[in-house]
Amino acid sequence: MRIAAIGDLHVNESMTQPYRALFSDMSEAADFILLCGDLTNYGKSSEAEVLASDLAAATVPVIAVLGNHDHESGRPDVVKDILTQARVRVLDGGEAVELEGVGFAGCMGAMGGFGRGMLSAFGEVTVKTFVQACLEETMKLETGLRMLRTDRAVVLLHYAPITETLEGEPLEIFPFLGNSRLAETIDRFDNVKAAFHGHAHRGVHRGSTPRGVPVYNVARPVLAAMDGPAFALMEI
Ligand SMILES: [Fe+2]
Ligand SMILES: [Fe+2]
Repeated sequence: MRIAAIGDLHVNESMTQPYRALFSDMSEAADFILLCGDLTNYGKSSEAEVLASDLAAATVPVIAVLGNHDHESGRPDVVKDILTQARVRVLDGGEAVELEGVGFAGCMGAMGGFGRGMLSAFGEVTVKTFVQACLEETMKLETGLRMLRTDRAVVLLHYAPITETLEGEPLEIFPFLGNSRLAETIDRFDNVKAAFHGHAHRGVHRGSTPRGVPVYNVARPVLAAMDGPAFALMEI
């Protein structure tokens, strides 16, 4: 099975069919299309409509997670509804999808930092609330992975599970680009063969979890800076 993946499309309403050709190309190259969040620029329904129209060119199943930009207008549910009507499987509540023997689980993920530098639920109520929200978002990935019965599973995220794919981003903002609880969750499930994320526009394409699961940063600017097609293509 081949997977074509990209994130950070950042569609805005002034664009005219920005990704129609891309979705057509991805459909020809792969059995599944993965979209790793920041699909719209400000989370507006008008932006989601532009994307939904282009998605008519996709002829294989499309699985997606939302990104922080898709939340900006405070209506991620509207973005999700519009994409769902365009036949996209949006994973945002701990659900999972099994298609042709491959399992897909994912969530937006969250910020929070990595390893010993992770923010912990200590002190002010606001800090505890923030950490709890990050934990709950990460738990959705675990919930989804637990539901899968497939030998092969693929993880979709927007935020990064490791720091390796963040190299090139300013070190000061690493804690805002992801958290390592996501990687701990991935590593608890033997069937996970690959994980995809976006968000880190200036990061690098490839890394791996501590257990060795390949992690791909498929943010569009990262892929654009590489030789080859506009999207990532993987065999699973
Ligand atoms: Fe982005
Ligand atoms: Fe983002």
